[in-house]
Amino acid sequence: MGPWPLDPRGPQAEASSFVYWILFACAIPVLAIVCGSLIYSGIKFRERPGHEAKQFHGHNLLELIWTIVPTVMVISFTGLSWNKLNEINNVDAGTAMTVKVEGRQWAWAFTYPDQQMFKLQDGSTLITGEQLDIPVGAKVKIELTSKDVIHSFWVPNLGGKKDAVPGHTTSLWLQADQAGTYRGQCFEFCGEGHADMLITIVAHPQNEYATWASTAIADANRLNDPRTKAGRDTFLASACVGCHTVKGTPAAGKVGPELTHIASKPNIGGVLSPVNQENLVKWISDAPSIKPGIVMPRFKGVLTDQQINDIAQWLLTLK
Ligand code: CUA
Repeated sequence: MGPWPLDPRGPQAEASSFVYWILFACAIPVLAIVCGSLIYSGIKFRERPGHEAKQFHGHNLLELIWTIVPTVMVISFTGLSWNKLNEINNVDAGTAMTVKVEGRQWAWAFTYPDQQMFKLQDGSTLITGEQLDIPVGAKVKIELTSKDVIHSFWVPNLGGKKDAVPGHTTSLWLQADQAGTYRGQCFEFCGEGHADMLITIVAHPQNEYATWASTAIADANRLNDPRTKAGRDTFLASACVGCHTVKGTPAAGKVGPELTHIASKPNIGGVLSPVNQENLVKWISDAPSIKPGIVMPRFKGVLTDQQINDIAQWLLTLK
């Protein structure tokens, strides 16, 4: 299903689409009456041979109608919006889980709640990039912030839009009433990678959520192996994450190729094979000298030789 706010799949999105349809349904007759009478009067009372155009004024009943009807309409819309906004802004009541979401140029990172089911071997909590997995029917509170510039979080089928502002935490809630995959996108222009700052929310049936979580934790533990942790940490702290995706980590960049299974690939960047420690180090150190014109910059001098070695070692575990 496309990202579309008028195809609501949860109570949050339903509240806004309900207001939209009421306004739309009232606006159509208003448009028809106003434009219809304008056109009708223009034709009927126009100056023409055998008919003289005249001025009319002072019709109490008409004036009362076109004052009272719009007033009542505007007041009703205000009441309706107020009512639905209370529902939309009611972030804290009945929350089933709270997820911390951080936007950065140009990816989203989701930190799962501080609960046993999301704990990794090393005691840290599961963090993923781009994709957030939630249980169906659960009210999920999203605590939003940003690392650099203003981003905006919007998954139209599930709920309203909210800005992610550096230095502040804003919040919203989402709920999916059906299992499925819901797409979203950063909605505030935030630089050249803005169009690639995608959001995917996967809603799992309640009874399958724990299974999903244990698989995600197993994957994250593999990526978090203490023997290659130095490389992982360097990778995640450097510019790599802005361009590359490694599923199960916060790295969710879309500018460069996905590296989730880099160690199983036949070559690096389509030109350098096999994928081994030596070639990975060569590539990370100075990709432009191997593949001229490539977007990926040289990292020799930006990262130390040790750091590049560590990263290569970690990438080799991504099978
Ligand atoms: Cu982030 Cu646009």
